[in-house]
Amino acid sequence: MIISSSTDYREAAKRRLPPFLFHYIDGGAYAEHTLRRNVGDLSDLALRQRILKSVGNVDISTTLFGEELSMPVALAPVGLTGMFARRGEVQAAQAAASKKLPFTLSTVSVCPIEEVQSQVSRPIWFQLYVLKDRGFMKNALERAWAAGIRTLVFTVDMPVPGARYRDAHSGMSGPNAAARRMVQAVTHPAWAYDVGLMGRPHDLGNISAYRGQKTALGDYIGWLGANFDPSIGWGDLEWIREFWKGPMIIKGILDPEDARDAVRFGADGIVVSNHGGRQLDGVLSSARATPMIAEAVKGELTILADSGIRSGLDVVRMIAQGADGVLIGRAFIYALATAGRKGVENLLDIMTKEMRVAMTLTGAKTVREISRESLVREIEKPLALAAE
Ligand code: FNR
Ligand code: LAC
Repeated sequence: MIISSSTDYREAAKRRLPPFLFHYIDGGAYAEHTLRRNVGDLSDLALRQRILKSVGNVDISTTLFGEELSMPVALAPVGLTGMFARRGEVQAAQAAASKKLPFTLSTVSVCPIEEVQSQVSRPIWFQLYVLKDRGFMKNALERAWAAGIRTLVFTVDMPVPGARYRDAHSGMSGPNAAARRMVQAVTHPAWAYDVGLMGRPHDLGNISAYRGQKTALGDYIGWLGANFDPSIGWGDLEWIREFWKGPMIIKGILDPEDARDAVRFGADGIVVSNHGGRQLDGVLSSARATPMIAEAVKGELTILADSGIRSGLDVVRMIAQGADGVLIGRAFIYALATAGRKGVENLLDIMTKEMRVAMTLTGAKTVREISRESLVREIEKPLALAAE
């Protein structure tokens, strides 16, 4: 199969993965309106073509949290990444490092912090969830710091998991899930060998390391619901801010008032995000939330944004909406599932080229020169309340 975009990787991943894993990645919450809007609202933003601007060689590099990056992109935290490719977190982190980009390790990764960081040449970022067991959170922070990690992504938009209908249908959860997953594994032999057999152990590596026993993945979705803590407020986070001496980024902000609270709290950055449309269906797309948030807090902290980014053109669009940089989730996971580390490296090369073309043809020589002026404002749709 010829691969020239993240869309091709999605198709390839769909063939290779057992359906319960493909739909866990690909799906969103409830009727998936927000999932579709994330992608649709971004592509609706018309780039403003400019000509003869003597652009020459564009520079797509940037600096975020003191780190020099080859482009304004980081790999988002994605739970169970080690189920999509053999020891997938290690492979994705190596790909990101080879392209001078950050990889963010999820709390609910298969590979634990130490396994990943010890095999990667640059410090990864670590993402923490609010678990009822605060002992785990403290332990995870201590281990991350000891491993040399300095950038913390604290995700706050998952007090409870959103209902994902696809998971119930695909065998990720629901009746006879274990038996259905077994049948799917057997009928996807390339995955079954690479990950099912050679990618063991399959568990939540960070949690197992803390508890001293294997955390089984049999009822992963149920585990998330039982262990995540909806009772948390800003005040409960103060010990984390005290403890963590490196940059702290709050992920999952969609409202300007919450962005202002993040500034008051002392966050170094935020991620404008609706969790890739996986949490509350019906909320605003990140493409539309970002300008309002940028208006409220731009310059006071670093604004990252994710949800819906599938190409280098989308990176330029999101920066034009006011972000300083973006995270990519599904786009890199499809590539990882298809071809491991090499797939992610190739995807990042594709996105680099796409960004260069978009910047050259909008007349932006550097990332700083990407602005609202890079978009055609006249034909932007008003905040749509009409039916989709
Ligand atoms: C996620 N996301 C996520 N976020 C987080 O903070 N911790 C996590 O463990 C996970 N797990 C996870 C699993 C899967 C399969 C997906 C697709 C996403 C959300 C992720 O970090 C990011 O916000 C979205 O993926 C961004 O949207 P796109 O790029 O996938 O459209
Ligand atoms: C998800 C969680 C793990 O979106 O963040 O599936």
